[in-house]
Amino acid sequence: VAEEQQDHAQRTRRCGAVIAELFARLDWPALGAAYCEGVAHDFFDEERRERLLEVGLQLADDLAGALPADGPRRSLYLGAAVAELVPILVERLVLEREVLWFTLPGPERDELERALRAVGSSFELDLPLPDPRALVEVPPRPCDHLWMVSVLTDPDAFPALHDELYERVGTPQATGLGDLAEERTRASALIDALLANAAPPCVLSTTDEELILLRPRTRQRGLIISESQVRHSSALMEDAIGLHRLVSLA
Ligand SMILES: C[S@@+](CC[C@H](N)C(=O)[O-])C[C@H]1O[C@@H](n2cnc3c(N)ncnc32)[C@H](O)[C@@H]1O
Repeated sequence: VAEEQQDHAQRTRRCGAVIAELFARLDWPALGAAYCEGVAHDFFDEERRERLLEVGLQLADDLAGALPADGPRRSLYLGAAVAELVPILVERLVLEREVLWFTLPGPERDELERALRAVGSSFELDLPLPDPRALVEVPPRPCDHLWMVSVLTDPDAFPALHDELYERVGTPQATGLGDLAEERTRASALIDALLANAAPPCVLSTTDEELILLRPRTRQRGLIISESQVRHSSALMEDAIGLHRLVSLA
């Protein structure tokens, strides 16, 4: 037990060093430009970077307690970006789990990948990298953690769902864009591709808005969501994230 505690402490220290190096090497003004229009060089100011770290560590801590002990030890992050770097790295480096990661191509994904490759090579570690393929094209693999946070409310990929799920239709905050029926079909296909990787009992980390679309799709697969009462406010979108359990109906 003492040896395992020592190993864990060593892995935690190394993970801390990797995260610190990554935060030092990321091109924050370039990432800021991916998050807001106009002048973005100080979007990721010190306060916001600290929040990324704080919320990420809290989520990682709760995840460590929620993950099943005897599952396949593999997580799938869908639509993960800068806000998920900390939980992804804790899962890989401290909990020694495999991490699959899918997100859309673009400048943010390029910058995260560049920095992760650079830091991985300094530390001689294979750090998780976003998969260049679309999730729907990839054969499913058993995962005991599925993560989908603020993807189906993405104003770029799902503008009509964004308006609908945030109850913004007809308000000044609405995008007023997109075709709701087409987006619902595309969202269902994405959810099905995600759930095809579920190895129940597993953890399902998602927002309250996305739960509304996930529930009927899980039931169709003979799964139910056992909802956690605890919520985290996500670091950037400030959406409510729950770490729920996905279990077989039978
Ligand atoms: C609003 S951002 C949220 C980013 C991050 N999850 C967070 O909570 O800060 C939406 C994310 O969903 C991703 N996304 C949208 N559609 C996707 C798809 N079909 N496959 C993978 N990622 C997708 C985008 O690339 C983007 O990173």
